[in-house]
Amino acid sequence: MSHIELTVLGAGNMGRALIGGLLRHGMRPEQIAVGESQDAARATLSRELGIAATSDNAAAIRNAHLVVLAVKPQDAGSVLGPLATELQQRRTIVLSVAAGVRIETLQSWCGAGVPVIRAMPNRPALLGAGVTGLFAPPEVEASRREMAAQVMRSVGEVVWVATEDALDVVTALSGSGPAYFFLLAQAMEEAGVRLGLPVQTARRLSIATLHGAGLLAHGSDGDLARLRAEVTSKGGTTEAAVRTLQAAGFDELIARAVEAATRRGRELAAQAGGAR
Ligand SMILES: NC(=O)c1ccc[n+]([C@@H]2O[C@H](COP(=O)([O-])OP(=O)(O)OC[C@H]3O[C@@H](n4cnc5c(N)ncnc54)[C@H](OP(=O)(O)O)[C@@H]3O)[C@@H](O)[C@H]2O)c1
Repeated sequence: MSHIELTVLGAGNMGRALIGGLLRHGMRPEQIAVGESQDAARATLSRELGIAATSDNAAAIRNAHLVVLAVKPQDAGSVLGPLATELQQRRTIVLSVAAGVRIETLQSWCGAGVPVIRAMPNRPALLGAGVTGLFAPPEVEASRREMAAQVMRSVGEVVWVATEDALDVVTALSGSGPAYFFLLAQAMEEAGVRLGLPVQTARRLSIATLHGAGLLAHGSDGDLARLRAEVTSKGGTTEAAVRTLQAAGFDELIARAVEAATRRGRELAAQAGGAR
């Protein structure tokens, strides 16, 4: 990334996480420009990170090879539309993290010929521990895809998906996924309290278990069934719990939940597309 000039439009939670990740991964502050509407956010960026930030988005993208669109989905059109001519002239890559905003919609704002790539990161990206689903239409060249992947790798892992529809499943799985684990951890905490543990004790046990299990899974070859088998001795306590969960339809329930999130993501995207 040593030769890339990059602009982040929208230095909110995700924009700042990406800037921090890129700096940690060796980008120099002078390679990054920011377009941000909030005075305080701009001042913090230049004071603390030495990053040039302006409220003039057209000026911010002037030298960029790649523009990260990190404003709220409802602001995406009003941010990209006025930049279309500049983006088309320089064929600047637009990498959008705006949830649910379709390539077709982004392309209609940027104009033909602008390489548009979508990314769906998740909240742990704010700690550099995210996972991002990426999709690019077939006409976007490999070198541009790789540039986008490098940007998103600065805040965690990346996974390419073959269709834009698959990004809705990414949103439902890893985008919303942290909430599913929090729900499980909360239910475990409450179960511990019902069985007599002090609430703080049950909470620490639950959260530390979530953390440790995540580390074990992440450091493994990805065989989750084997990992589970390793903590499940025959006739033991874990087996009793897992049997109870599965007999009550746990797997089917999770499948239905992820389906519901996928469906809802598509409904929201359709509403946003229809409203433009
Ligand atoms: N946060 C996450 O965990 C997460 C996960 C996946 C995807 N995303 C996506 O990332 C995007 C940003 O989310 P976020 O949580 O970072 O939102 P956010 O904290 O609200 O950040 C957006 C920033 O963009 C600024 N902005 C608004 N209009 C602008 C304009 N015309 N020019 C330049 N900057 C402008 C906002 O300022 P104002 O506050 O003044 O409007 C705000 O500082 C969203 O599209 C979201 O779907 C976020």
